[in-house]
Amino acid sequence: MKQDPKSLMCGIVGYIGKRDAATVLLNGLKRLEYRGYDSAGIAVLNGALSVIKQKGSVGALERAVADSSGLLKGGTIGIGHTRWATHGDPSDRNAHPHLNAAGDIALIHNGIIENHTALRQELSSQGYTFLSDTDTEVLVHLIDRIWNEERHLTLEGVVRRALHYIEGAYGICVISSREPETLIVARMGSPLVLGIGEQEYFIASDAAPIIEYTKKVIYLADGEMAVMNREGFAVKTDKNEEAEKNVTELDFKLEEIEKGGFEHFMLKEIFEQPSVMQDVMRGRIHLEDNTLHLGGVKDHLEKLRKAKRIIICACGTSWHAGLIGEYLIEEFARIPVEVDYASEFRYRTPIISPDDVVMVISQSGETADTLAALRMAKEKGALVMGICNVVGSTIARETTCGMYTHAGPEIGVASTKAFTAQVIVLYMLALALSIGRTIKDEEIALYLKELSEAPQKAASIIAQHADIRAIAKVYKDARNFLYLGRGFNFPVALEGALKLKEISYIHAEGYPAAEMKHGPIALIDKDMPVIFIATRDSTYTKILSNIEEVRTRKGKIIAIATEGDQEISNLADHVIYIPYAAAPVTPLLTVIPLQLLSYYIATERGCNVDRPRNLAKSVTVE
Ligand code: G6P
Repeated sequence: MKQDPKSLMCGIVGYIGKRDAATVLLNGLKRLEYRGYDSAGIAVLNGALSVIKQKGSVGALERAVADSSGLLKGGTIGIGHTRWATHGDPSDRNAHPHLNAAGDIALIHNGIIENHTALRQELSSQGYTFLSDTDTEVLVHLIDRIWNEERHLTLEGVVRRALHYIEGAYGICVISSREPETLIVARMGSPLVLGIGEQEYFIASDAAPIIEYTKKVIYLADGEMAVMNREGFAVKTDKNEEAEKNVTELDFKLEEIEKGGFEHFMLKEIFEQPSVMQDVMRGRIHLEDNTLHLGGVKDHLEKLRKAKRIIICACGTSWHAGLIGEYLIEEFARIPVEVDYASEFRYRTPIISPDDVVMVISQSGETADTLAALRMAKEKGALVMGICNVVGSTIARETTCGMYTHAGPEIGVASTKAFTAQVIVLYMLALALSIGRTIKDEEIALYLKELSEAPQKAASIIAQHADIRAIAKVYKDARNFLYLGRGFNFPVALEGALKLKEISYIHAEGYPAAEMKHGPIALIDKDMPVIFIATRDSTYTKILSNIEEVRTRKGKIIAIATEGDQEISNLADHVIYIPYAAAPVTPLLTVIPLQLLSYYIATERGCNVDRPRNLAKSVTVE
């Protein structure tokens, strides 16, 4: 397997069975919309090979299908794709599926074909005409060439042979009117899930398009191919041997990935946090005897405790959770922790030894840089541990041990509930590493109790959403925001600023509060809202001085403070109160008003909150 697969966040759906393929594919593409895309298309076999593809939304594609005078009618086998441009701009002609010149082979692809330039030159010199700027198109012409040269081969044989020429990452789905009863898929670096129904099969980039039809799935591994017809399916290795696969039972329901009455997925996911927090702790925290049961790491706890160092690698919001993890693990377990951006770690020849533990954190479990960091650490002999949300994701499968966050599918591109779930996992892990070593039994009892009270406290913060919305209305037109916090809440300041940037497109910076005087203070004037996370802890009085400094310069102050703190209301323009909690628990609470504030500012500004411009949920491209 290549160490550095690049792929992208395109969505793939495939179907073979008795249902109307176009309907299944369009439904499936809708379920994958959250991944981020710029164009969509489907191909169906209904006597001929019929294709509709275009730039724009799945909704627009659906209308185009409805207006096509039944072009796709009667087809019960087909493939569908949402594209996020990498090679060639978002356009109708670059949208997938791509066809060969005869129009009898259709292919969709998720990933990047790294040697596409050489293949394009070779195929062009042999008379192949390219109709798109994509790297993908070379593969369909290659399949066409091989099949014309070796007519005795089956579609499966041709695809297998064509893939030998490909360098790079792919998840592909192929159909052909030359062999109209076969659906072929192959994976190298881009996830594919096969859903098993009653004489029908589904293929998708993740389980979301499949669960409304079947709960039985198989996760394909890199190098595997699946061949489906109406009688059955086979999963094969790249050496054409039958692969032994386990059928997994999906454990989440369709309703879990629908909006559940909220205007946006993001709001729904913010509101879900109290119950998600409970789900993360469920079965893991035992208050009756103050123990932790962390199944995914229990066999490695000794090694983790003895680690010379823990290096945490992640991207985006998961990286912020990692920073909180650093504070928690160092505070409780006294093990040195470093936190690195996965993209930096993988390219800066880091020193890693077998005594190190490399912990990767990823909601999707598919982020390209995080996956590459993990593979590098593994190669160097470190124990690799993962914290992932998506069960069966590539990172989850490639780590030696780990813990799932159990936050359920997160659809909003801006991560919310996955973040709080990650922080809880890190908190539990930090405590588990400290038991019998670095903190006293009564402290364990206290910290477990504090954590177990977080869901109910989070709910009381969410209940203040109307007040937070009112504050959002006041500041919706601000051009810049500054977020300041200290200690456990410094990473929350970073996360608050990131949330605002991501969904409202307002420039925002997060800083450790004391660093304000080393730069950001120069920006403060009457137009600059400054958010202070100023809960009652050991740095509270220091933060009050920082607030005074902003006030003197006429900056607008929004404070997140502990209930009962009257002092702060004399200094701040607005105060959002959170219930008292022990300092290590506060990030779980202080982040919630910041998520809500970003959400309401973005909606006041009319932004597409669930699918912010230029961002994608799962960044499987470096
Ligand atoms: C993208 C998403 C972020 C996420 C980051 C890391 O940028 O938009 O919300 O935090 O990727 O993703 P991961 O799945 O690895 O946590």
